[in-house]
Amino acid sequence: MEHGTNTSTGKEEGAETDTDTPGLNARSFRALRLCTNFRAGFTLPSCGARGAEEVHQEIARQWPERNMPFVFETVHCMGKCHIGPTLRLVPAGPFLMGAKTKEDVTRILDLLEAGDIEQAAQEFPAPAL
Ligand code: FES
Repeated sequence: MEHGTNTSTGKEEGAETDTDTPGLNARSFRALRLCTNFRAGFTLPSCGARGAEEVHQEIARQWPERNMPFVFETVHCMGKCHIGPTLRLVPAGPFLMGAKTKEDVTRILDLLEAGDIEQAAQEFPAPAL
């Protein structure tokens, strides 16, 4: 699509994309954040006990091969310990929950790399608590 100014609306044509929805534009996020917290003894829920290390390894393996618009970082807890592994786009982006397999990670990274934040959030939703 060519860029230009629509003379009837005064808006620049072709500049908007599906990810221009406020808050869901990939360029508005600084990082994809993964919780890798592990609580010893398995007595308390944690992302580490629910598969975060496997998710971490797969993201770290794929990340250098991709052209992501933000950085990847790990943290210790984002408050969704019992439903992790917890992924979130920051600042203030959607949580991406339920990734367990390499295929899940590939799907999430494919969507994020394409800038389809809304689809990623729909496919990996944060359950209502
Ligand atoms: S342990 Fe991961 S969100 Fe709390």
